[in-house]
Amino acid sequence: MRIDIVKNKIELGRASANFVSEAVAKKPRMVLGLPTGNTPLLMYKDLVHLHKNGLFDAPQVTTFNLDEYYGLSLRDRQSYAYFMKNMFFKYVEVLESHIPNGLIPKEKVEEYCGSYERLIAASGGLDITVLGIGGDGHIAFNEPGSSFSSRTRLVELSAQTIKDNSEPFIKAKKKMPTLAITMGIATIMESRTIMLLASRKSKADILKRALEGPVTEDVPASILQTHKNVIIIADEEAASKLAKKGR
Ligand code: PGA
Repeated sequence: MRIDIVKNKIELGRASANFVSEAVAKKPRMVLGLPTGNTPLLMYKDLVHLHKNGLFDAPQVTTFNLDEYYGLSLRDRQSYAYFMKNMFFKYVEVLESHIPNGLIPKEKVEEYCGSYERLIAASGGLDITVLGIGGDGHIAFNEPGSSFSSRTRLVELSAQTIKDNSEPFIKAKKKMPTLAITMGIATIMESRTIMLLASRKSKADILKRALEGPVTEDVPASILQTHKNVIIIADEEAASKLAKKGR
């Protein structure tokens, strides 16, 4: 496992954007797994900046987002579809982009999730998947207790995730969904490369548990210890509790 520690969130954005843009330059028909959240926001800002300066283009790239709130769509400002459109796709054209559809009726969700998996497989599989880490150790919305063999499915958000992610919903005076559609842990682990981003002091404890603690379904991100090609980019605050620093 490679652990790159950068000074702050600005450098984290730059380092992760450079990693993606260099990989896409080498393999233009790249298939990316993409996250949302405050941490990856910095990566998107930098990718858009690179794009505006003629240093990043993705016309042959296919993207699959990790997750979406159940019940929300592009029309909701708190949805991940809205986030992706406004932070990235509005600026950077890709060949195809896929985001789990949060409006699929309950009785069709299982079939829909199977089709999301098949679409990933048909595209050749994920080359690079970018992840954030939840305060509870989740990757995508695979909350503590999620099976390491899980696939794309409807899940319940943990109490901690509901608390951590509630701010935009409180501001908008909207009820926050308690369910989401997420790629599974097995889906993510099949990605050829995984890059996990962690920023801020609030992630220091969970990052240590994920990278240096036992591999357990109680800490979903701990499974990354078993992946052959994983790179962690953490800022100094998030990395502050790690015993093993650097590569
Ligand atoms: P954050 O979210 O970047 O907003 O902290 C990370 C996550 O929940 O995956």
